[in-house]
Amino acid sequence: MNFAVLASGNGTNLQAIIKAIKAKQIKASLKVVLSDKSGAFALERARKAGVPCVVNLAPEQYLTREAFDQAMLDVLKKEEIDFVVLAGYMRILSPLFIEAYRHKILNIHPSLLPAFKGSHAIKDAFQFGVKVTGVTVHFVDEQVDHGVIIAQSAVEIGPNDTFDMLVEKVHEAEHKLYPYAINLFIRGKIKAPVVKAVPPVTGQHR
Ligand code: GAR
Repeated sequence: MNFAVLASGNGTNLQAIIKAIKAKQIKASLKVVLSDKSGAFALERARKAGVPCVVNLAPEQYLTREAFDQAMLDVLKKEEIDFVVLAGYMRILSPLFIEAYRHKILNIHPSLLPAFKGSHAIKDAFQFGVKVTGVTVHFVDEQVDHGVIIAQSAVEIGPNDTFDMLVEKVHEAEHKLYPYAINLFIRGKIKAPVVKAVPPVTGQHR
C-alpha cells in the first residue's frame, strides 16, 4: 500500500511515522509528503528521509478550496496513493477531497475527542483544568475533528504539571499512538465505519 502524509508544521508525527516504517511497524510505502506551508519543517524531514515525492502547494495560488484540493488529488493520483495520513495538517479538507478518499483519511488530534476540538486543544484542556486528556486518531469526515474513532490514548495531568510538560506528554503519546493506529488500518483491522442508527427515546422518564 502507498500512502501520503499531509503536514503544515514541525512534523514530529511525520518523524515518528518514518521511524515506524524503518522499524517495520508500518508496512506501507510513504510515497508523498505534501504541505500547504512553504516553511514547514515537515518538508525538511521528508527530504532528509528520502521520501520520493515532497511537494509544497501554495493555497493562495488557487481560486477556491476545491481547486487547491484538486491539485493535491492530482499529485496523489499520479503517485497511486491508497490512503492519506494527516499529521498536523491545519487546513480544512473540502468534501471533494474527503469523498475521493472516504474512510481512507486518518487524522491525529491532541485531545480525547469529542472533547476539546479546534486548533488549541492542549491549551484548552490545560486551562479547563481536566485531570485527564489525551490523543485521538480518527477517520476524517466533513466535520472538523470529527469522524469514527480508530484509537485513543489517555494522558494524565498531574497537580504540578506545567503547560509545557503537558505538551511534551501529549506529543509523546501521539508518537506512540499514530504508528499503532496506522498499522491497525493497514492490516485491515479497522473496517469501513458503520454508522449505527440510535433509536429515538420514547416514553416518559420518571
Ligand atoms: C499535533 O499535536 C497534532 O495532534 C495537531 O498538530 C500537531 C502537529 O505536530 N493537530 C491538530 O491539532 C489537528 N486538529 P507535528 O507537526 O509536530 O506533528
